[in-house]
Amino acid sequence: MENPEQLKDALLADVAAAGDLDSLEQLRVSALGRKGRITDLMKGLGALDPDERRATGQALNQVKEAVQSAIDARKADLEDAALDARLVDEAVDVTLPVDIGGQGRLHPISQTLDEVIAIFGEMGFSVAEGPDIEDDFHNFEALNIPPEHPARQMHDTFYLPEKSDASRMVLRTHTSPVQIRTMENEEPPIRIIAPGRTYRCDSDLTHTPMFHQVEGLVVDKTSHMGHLKGCLIEFCRAYFEVGDVPVRFRPSYFPFTEPSAEVDIGCSRDRDSIKIGAGDDWLEILGCGMVHPNVLRAGGIDPDEYQGFAFGMGLERIAMLKYGIPDLRTFFEADLRWLRHYGFVPMEVPTMLRGLTT
Ligand code: DAH
Repeated sequence: MENPEQLKDALLADVAAAGDLDSLEQLRVSALGRKGRITDLMKGLGALDPDERRATGQALNQVKEAVQSAIDARKADLEDAALDARLVDEAVDVTLPVDIGGQGRLHPISQTLDEVIAIFGEMGFSVAEGPDIEDDFHNFEALNIPPEHPARQMHDTFYLPEKSDASRMVLRTHTSPVQIRTMENEEPPIRIIAPGRTYRCDSDLTHTPMFHQVEGLVVDKTSHMGHLKGCLIEFCRAYFEVGDVPVRFRPSYFPFTEPSAEVDIGCSRDRDSIKIGAGDDWLEILGCGMVHPNVLRAGGIDPDEYQGFAFGMGLERIAMLKYGIPDLRTFFEADLRWLRHYGFVPMEVPTMLRGLTT
């Protein structure tokens, strides 16, 4: 029978020489596996006489343990070495400057919408949405604009094909129908803004067939014109980031509010730029007023118990003013050079509601 001591020395030398995990595993199988050399010797013990069997058995057990622990230790070393090699191999230099050339930009409308939502969010408004394709009731009738009302002509409406009951759906001409939908679905107190796409059959330097508005609606028992003014003045200051921007409420007319006003902000213009907050010129930015009792009624709210105010403004318009974008049509031309110039790097933008559909 092979001498256990010599076998041990030979196997330990082999273990020390194993250069990788695969050859170490082969070595383990050939020594300790079912048909391995130590196992073979163990099997031969039965043929020995009892004294010799005990002595050789003990010696073989020691060999087995010594070889097993040598293999374990070698395995741990080889694994460490493999990990070290990977760490060197896959090292990433995190100090390298980042190439943001391929990074996209946020469209100025997305950015503006985020800002508007953040400002009104601070004041306690939540965001409501409504469909782009509206029925006549929500887009006109419930907003106190009956058929033949002259305000309908002002809206240059896109109509969908007539339905079997002769009614025609429209692409909403403003976000005001969301006022009605909110009143139908919620109990006062209501405090919402409703941003979204709006459509009018109009296209020139200052009009595009699709554009964006933000509607606002407050309905409760006590809000009055003073609250409306405070709320919108606060918005103008926060949005334009000019603490003392002059804000003017000019009496106006909308069918869905009474009294109604248009809001202008103070600015100065020279040849081709507008500066907000200084000078003696005025720029109209939104319409507003106290919600008309007929509108409350159409929304299922009792005007003898509740009252409130509403406002609506064009997002493109306030984006153009704040960010000095001279031409409305460029918003929708999807020109990457324009977007790179006027767009926003997403990381720099504190967003409240990224992902809202616009
Ligand atoms: N819906 C109006 C428009 O598109 C804007 C508007 C004016 C909305 C006054 C309002 C409001 O809620 O009170 O021209």
